Amino acid sequence: MKNKLASFIMLSIGLLSFSQTDQTMTTNGGVPVGDNQNSKTVGEYGPVLLEDIHLVEKLAAFDRERIPERVVHPRGAGASGYFEATKDMSAYTKAVVFAKEGKKTDLAVRFSTVIHGKGSPETARDPRGFAVKFYTEQGNYDIVGNNLPIFFIRDAIKFPDMVHSLKPSPVTNKQDPNRFFDFFSHVPEATHMLTRLYTDLGIPKGYQFMNGSSVHGYKWINKEGKVTYVKYSWVSKQGEKNLTVEEAGAQQAKDWQHATVSLRKDIDDKNYPQWDLYVQMIKPEDIHSFDFWPLDATKDWPADKIEKIKIGTMTLNENPVNYFEQVESIAFSPGALIPGVEPSEDKLLQGRLFSYFDTQRHRLGPNFLQLEINKPLEEPNNYNSDSWNSAGNKRFENPDVNYQPSEKAALAEDHQFKQSETTLTDVTITQKKISKTNDFAQPGEFYRSLNKQQQDNLIKNLTGDLGQVTDKNIQKTMIGYFYRADRDFGMRVAKELGFSQKDFMN
Ligand code: HEM
Repeated sequence: MKNKLASFIMLSIGLLSFSQTDQTMTTNGGVPVGDNQNSKTVGEYGPVLLEDIHLVEKLAAFDRERIPERVVHPRGAGASGYFEATKDMSAYTKAVVFAKEGKKTDLAVRFSTVIHGKGSPETARDPRGFAVKFYTEQGNYDIVGNNLPIFFIRDAIKFPDMVHSLKPSPVTNKQDPNRFFDFFSHVPEATHMLTRLYTDLGIPKGYQFMNGSSVHGYKWINKEGKVTYVKYSWVSKQGEKNLTVEEAGAQQAKDWQHATVSLRKDIDDKNYPQWDLYVQMIKPEDIHSFDFWPLDATKDWPADKIEKIKIGTMTLNENPVNYFEQVESIAFSPGALIPGVEPSEDKLLQGRLFSYFDTQRHRLGPNFLQLEINKPLEEPNNYNSDSWNSAGNKRFENPDVNYQPSEKAALAEDHQFKQSETTLTDVTITQKKISKTNDFAQPGEFYRSLNKQQQDNLIKNLTGDLGQVTDKNIQKTMIGYFYRADRDFGMRVAKELGFSQKDFMN
């Protein structure tokens, strides 16, 4: 038996070293490679010669394999599929994706965690990114949202500080509740997001089992130029399923890449995940009629006051064949908008409009939109040119004219696609917080909408982290916020952390 095995191994080794394919390996320059196993050396035992161009090229390519990971949302999984509109929304928007019932649009998605690195566990308590890129005939349209319908802050100027507090410490390289609760104790508007994040919604069972939201309101523009404010939500047809903190611990011990694995498996098994897309609409004349500011990203648009209308369904039916090219290199941006959709005044969104394209020029290079996964369906027509890795300089009939306006320019703008007009009266350029902050009503309503088990889990999850904070004043400030959201909520957190009423007397 032993001998049989040995001769099989010998035979296999023999076959391997002599195996031939009809494709000859080449260098990047297309030169045939004669030996990919042995470096060129001085004698049998070396040293190795610098003139071995193939070896040098191979090591140089390897040395540059990694690009910077995303500064946030580095860990993620992607897939492709299509969106089918189920309602004609052309009365409200020119956007071709939503213009006609039955209209199908190809798309790519990336789901992600936020804070930790590219190889981090998918069991972390974190919002989950929910980014969708529609490849439309009028260019690429991205809805770059999260699983939760709101966000921690309402102004982009706070984002880098918030992320610094949530990322591992620059000293210990460890995420530390002392740091992020120190930050959040100065940011009462985060109470709503923290309340949701510390329920079991903070650890989705898998990407298929989470809902999605645009978080921000956007403006829809119809053919007459009429504006409607909209907010999108994706509702999982697989149902919303989460992990308790105990289940997450057990999952992490078994396989901490489970979300990537199970999304891929469902698509391989043709068990295609689906989400329905809903839209909520507010007329501009009604935007001030709520007890909160609807373009404040810390606020949900309550479904009992603003109807959710189903406008289509997304199906994911294709796995990436190359993770780097289709997932790592995909570039989403809230600024990737098409005719019929424009940004709203939301102060958080306005900062994002700059940040994503900016980081992608750094992360992927200035010509990132020429990468296969980011290319629009129709070849772009403009005079932007050159720079690193440019493969996209457009060839015009008269290549000497790479400017416009000109008598001879091949390109002209089309005024029907001009951005919509907004008339502003009595405006003051200022730098101040919105007056209608209403930071505690919605977290209170959300807390009271939870059942007993969900409330118990929220208290356990929250005090698990807040309990690690050594500064009692930070704990007390946070308890104050939860108390203002809901008396019972605040009292339970206080009790769990060992405070009594007299601790709050002075
Ligand atoms: C001012 C606030 C924010 C800033 C400055 C910001 C910035 C960024 C940056 C720089 C990236 C990396 C992008 C890349 O490398 O391609 C990113 C990724 C992402 N952000 Fe934000 N972000 C903000 C708020 C938000 C909010 C409110 C949401 C959800 C509505 C969100 C959802 C995402 C998602 C889903 C990704 C990952 C996209 C992907 O899968 O490639 N971000 N963000």
